[in-house]
Amino acid sequence: MILTVTLNPGIDKMLIVDNFKLNNDYRVKEVILSAGGKGINVSRVIKLLGGKTLVYTIVGGYAAKFFETELKREKINAKFTYIKKGVTRTNTTIIDVSKKKITRLLEKGPVLLQNDIIKIKQTLTALIQKTKIEYAVLSGTLPQGVDEYFYSDIIDIMNKKNIKVVLDTSGLPLQLAIKNKPYIIKPNLSEAEELLNIKLKNLSELKDAVNFLLKCGIKIVCITCGNKGVIVGVQKELLDKYKSVTTNKKENIFFAQPPEIEIKNNVGSGDAFLGGFIFSLSKKENIESAIKTGVSAGISNTLSYKPGYIDKKNISFFYSKIKVKELCIE
Ligand SMILES: Nc1ncnc2c1ncn2[C@@H]1O[C@H](COP(=O)(O)OP(=O)(O)OP(=O)(O)O)[C@@H](O)[C@H]1O
Ligand SMILES: [Mg+2]
Repeated sequence: MILTVTLNPGIDKMLIVDNFKLNNDYRVKEVILSAGGKGINVSRVIKLLGGKTLVYTIVGGYAAKFFETELKREKINAKFTYIKKGVTRTNTTIIDVSKKKITRLLEKGPVLLQNDIIKIKQTLTALIQKTKIEYAVLSGTLPQGVDEYFYSDIIDIMNKKNIKVVLDTSGLPLQLAIKNKPYIIKPNLSEAEELLNIKLKNLSELKDAVNFLLKCGIKIVCITCGNKGVIVGVQKELLDKYKSVTTNKKENIFFAQPPEIEIKNNVGSGDAFLGGFIFSLSKKENIESAIKTGVSAGISNTLSYKPGYIDKKNISFFYSKIKVKELCIE
């Protein structure tokens, strides 16, 4: 079972427009709504690929019903904690189809109260006790009111239960959580640059960054770089577990690039990558296969307006086209 944790979900509202201009009244061509949030997108991809997943998320106000109804319709198992004050946020994406520009308006979301936070910790601890969880994906920003050590504390609890924690967040919560050694981290390029406080200008510098993070004790490091692809490092001791017999055993860092495509919406591609990658690892597939599934899911995500909606046929199509290279940069 793959658990995903989304503490600050949001209704994703996609507005499809033509030649959008500021300082104008505007007639929207189409409105698309989706139950959004990074972990929810990851679960959506795992579900669409045929895996077993459970969403744990926090909802409040009128939006709670929307999440219940949508996730039920999508047949995604979910456990909710309801907050007493405040409403789940709405994140608006303006997609200009003629100018091919995407603009996002991200709300902060509700401020959680101390009682909410205690309830969340209790619910998560109970979930871990009674459900057999192999991977737990902790994704996204922390809600207002939650202290920056939250992920770090949860990782500690999960590590003790031998759950493989996958962390996809940024800023201080990421920095603090790394000390507790999550199993996998997946920053994107700018999140990795912020974490390490350096610019990563080429593959050689990316490789050094991945090596540095592996030395911090993280088992698998993925840095996704949008349409440029992904670089993945695996601890050498895990190579036998994850590496295929066809590759040599010297290199533990890999790189894969997607083909050039015309995108509809790239929001959630990192979540789709993680969904595909973890799904594949949970099936005991080798690292090349997991990278190809992840990258294929990331690309497929860009072909739909809704984050995390991937088509299995697209995954097979792209999977056969992607080459995973071992990185040998001296
Ligand atoms: N424009 C694109 N064309 C092809 N593939 C893409 C494109 N954008 C993303 N991808 C694929 O998806 C993966 C993840 O994308 P990206 O690095 O943008 O994630 P992200 O910034 O974490 O996204 P989000 O946080 O919105 O989910 C990339 O490694 C790549 O494989
Ligand atoms: Mg991301």
